[in-house]
Amino acid sequence: MKLERIHRRSRGAHAAMAFLIVLLASCGGGSENTESTSRTPGDTALDQTAAFTIGYSQCNRGEPWREQMDSDIESNANAAAGIDIIMKDAQNDALAQQAHVKEFIAQKVDCIIISPKDTSLTQVVADAFAAGIPVIVLDRKVEGDKFTTFIGADNRVIGAAVGKWVIEQLNGEGTVVELRGLSSSTPAVERSEPFRAAIEGTGIAIVYDADMEWLGDKAREKMQAALARLPEPGSIDLVYGANDPAAIAAYYAAKDAGRDEEMLFVGVDALPHEGIEAVRAGILDATFEYPNGAKEAIETALMIKRGEQPPGTITLGTRLYTPENVDSGGKTIE
Ligand code: FRU
Repeated sequence: MKLERIHRRSRGAHAAMAFLIVLLASCGGGSENTESTSRTPGDTALDQTAAFTIGYSQCNRGEPWREQMDSDIESNANAAAGIDIIMKDAQNDALAQQAHVKEFIAQKVDCIIISPKDTSLTQVVADAFAAGIPVIVLDRKVEGDKFTTFIGADNRVIGAAVGKWVIEQLNGEGTVVELRGLSSSTPAVERSEPFRAAIEGTGIAIVYDADMEWLGDKAREKMQAALARLPEPGSIDLVYGANDPAAIAAYYAAKDAGRDEEMLFVGVDALPHEGIEAVRAGILDATFEYPNGAKEAIETALMIKRGEQPPGTITLGTRLYTPENVDSGGKTIE
């Protein structure tokens, strides 16, 4: 199939492009636990001047999007008075992350913020909640409702928007490689199902799909396998990477095989120094923003500290960035 690439820029010149990564200056001030009088959000009798200890568990700091989340958590917590934060990195190990939460329960922290690796964190989050500790869940979901607040963008809206964009780009006909996120994590399913529903009944077919576990290295391997499986030039029209690291890694795999010009690449996250930069560089044809919710998480913790009842869900928005709109700040997706 011949694709119209009116806005496509030459990609060869960008081989040396480097992505800046926001480095964490430090991992936060580990602190002593304070004795809290109450951990129920409805209790307004909390001492506003006393330190309020947040136990924060990140599933994997070794990714730009999560480094940014940590950095935003830290800066927002530092900007608020009277907050101590214990920051932990589970290094992509669900058992280690479960152990974090158990520790936080034993330490009787005043609030837990967790960005869980996957739904295997459900039970320990419920245990913390049952122990009276407010729990704020960020990005990936746990099952059920045994937590205080969930904060994240609507991945189903993103998946559907990707589907709509793909149909437009391919004029309703073509072949797609889908590199899905870790199947035990909710955004993987929620970004894939509506995408597939959108393309159903069109002339667009998924010719290869794989779980890349949200990891760029894995995505590159999977894309190499897709290219080997589909060696004919023009047999892949588009790659949908469920996050930008996957879409960018797929681009480099295609480029190594001399095939990057044959296909379009779309990802999700739109970090300024990663996905958006990749759109500017002509590596990605689109990225959908996935805000990390760190600011809202600290705001929610402050509500809890003040004894206010936070909302059960905070849904964040998304934007589409393409070469045409990147300089004007992208486009809102409803
Ligand atoms: C980072 C990440 C992001 C993605 C999110 C989904 O671990 O893979 O790139 O948008 O997690 O939970």
